[in-house]
Amino acid sequence: MLNTPIKRRSLLLGSAATAFSFAIPKWPVRDAQANAEFRLSAAPGNAYFLGGPYPKTSVWCYNGAVPGPEIRVKRGDRLRVVVDNALDQATTVHWHGIRLPNNMDGVANLTQPPIEPGQSFTYEFELPDAGTYWYHPHHNSSEQIGRGLYGPLIIEEREPIQVDRELIWILDDWRLTESEQISDDFGQMSDKSHGGRLGNTATVNGWITPKVRIRSGERIRLRIINVANARNFAFKFPDHQPKVIAIDGHPVEPHDPAGGYIMLGAAMRIDLILDATESPGTQLALMDEFYRGREYKLLDLVYSDEPPLRENPLDTAIQLPANPLPEPDLEQAERFPIIFAGGAMGGLRGAILNGQQTDMRTLASQGLLWAINGEVIPEPLKQPLLTLKRGQSCVLALKNDTAFVHPIHLHGHAFRVLSRDGSPTTYREWQDTVLIMPDEQVDIAFVADNPGDWLFHCHILEHQASGMSGIIRVV
Ligand code: C2O
Ligand code: CU
Repeated sequence: MLNTPIKRRSLLLGSAATAFSFAIPKWPVRDAQANAEFRLSAAPGNAYFLGGPYPKTSVWCYNGAVPGPEIRVKRGDRLRVVVDNALDQATTVHWHGIRLPNNMDGVANLTQPPIEPGQSFTYEFELPDAGTYWYHPHHNSSEQIGRGLYGPLIIEEREPIQVDRELIWILDDWRLTESEQISDDFGQMSDKSHGGRLGNTATVNGWITPKVRIRSGERIRLRIINVANARNFAFKFPDHQPKVIAIDGHPVEPHDPAGGYIMLGAAMRIDLILDATESPGTQLALMDEFYRGREYKLLDLVYSDEPPLRENPLDTAIQLPANPLPEPDLEQAERFPIIFAGGAMGGLRGAILNGQQTDMRTLASQGLLWAINGEVIPEPLKQPLLTLKRGQSCVLALKNDTAFVHPIHLHGHAFRVLSRDGSPTTYREWQDTVLIMPDEQVDIAFVADNPGDWLFHCHILEHQASGMSGIIRVV
């Protein structure tokens, strides 16, 4: 099984899913102050993927909406979020990509006890970096994120670049039944051992194939966030020349996407500058082509009939100011090979479990299917995979020895992507999640400057839950 095809929708979207309702809920007011306070309530709710008249879908979500509300703050602000748990199971909130103190990282049973039903927890931390981030639970993640718990966390630059408009696209993928309900087959062995819980319905900001209105001549900053459990996305903007300006929140030298494809592994973010260079009235489809033979339409870009905002694209700078990331010292860096193995067609015979060589059948009977450096560490994780000294530069040579792609994520840090299969990357991107193809080796480097136990895992949540997860301890 590669993946289930995206559901063919014959329903035409009216204007419901355009301009107005397409927006992500925003907080009504917030003072321009350095202490930003928000309240999130995780609770059951409803989503309307196709608009009002069509069946609603029961979800779990923040503040009654999928996606959850946009938290928008400025670099250097102190963010305070009170989280209320109105679910009937424990939860936490993890601030994906943020370099924060370990006890605010939101990993259940590692950095905090889970927030029990009816309880609250207050997160509070400073925001060292600008960029596009997101928040989601880090407890029973496959089901909780898979049912709709996530939202955008936008940290503005202190010196923003000039654009006419900013858009956020949150890409998700749902596994729906015939009656438009979330299929409750979470934790399936075949999802764990293959490409994760791939769904049959892709949404952008909670809408199926929405029409996104743009105006000729305008310059848009587009923040794209992949919150799907397992689906990776790759799409082009036909007839346009978008420039990538940030990856996983961190600025990169503005450049054309490789091969024209905007590619986002699960959990990744990409910021683009999109100049609307076509004429009024133009309409074009964006196709997700990540899985060969499984292409489908993600959304339509629809130009309004308004006259162009300007004749020639703006020629102002689009390079973002750098975030204050510590530069790894590659001369001194210690190198650690990390080999990911296992899964279907991976040929893994066995691995070490609790200090004992264990055969694959026994591992699988415990729902464990993936190994890191020959070892499977069951949850809750206790033993670190690596222990690093605070301030130490290190290179992790990540080898994907499996038949699947894996978006590998490190908490509490950002790393430079140095090379792929030995060839240096052009932009030495700072990322917090890196997509690694089958058999590929990706070298990453970072300074272990943030003390604590940090999760290091595949962001295909069903892989994470079946052994593709470890701790990097910084002491
Ligand atoms: Cu998006 Cu372990 O996190
Ligand atoms: Cu994986």
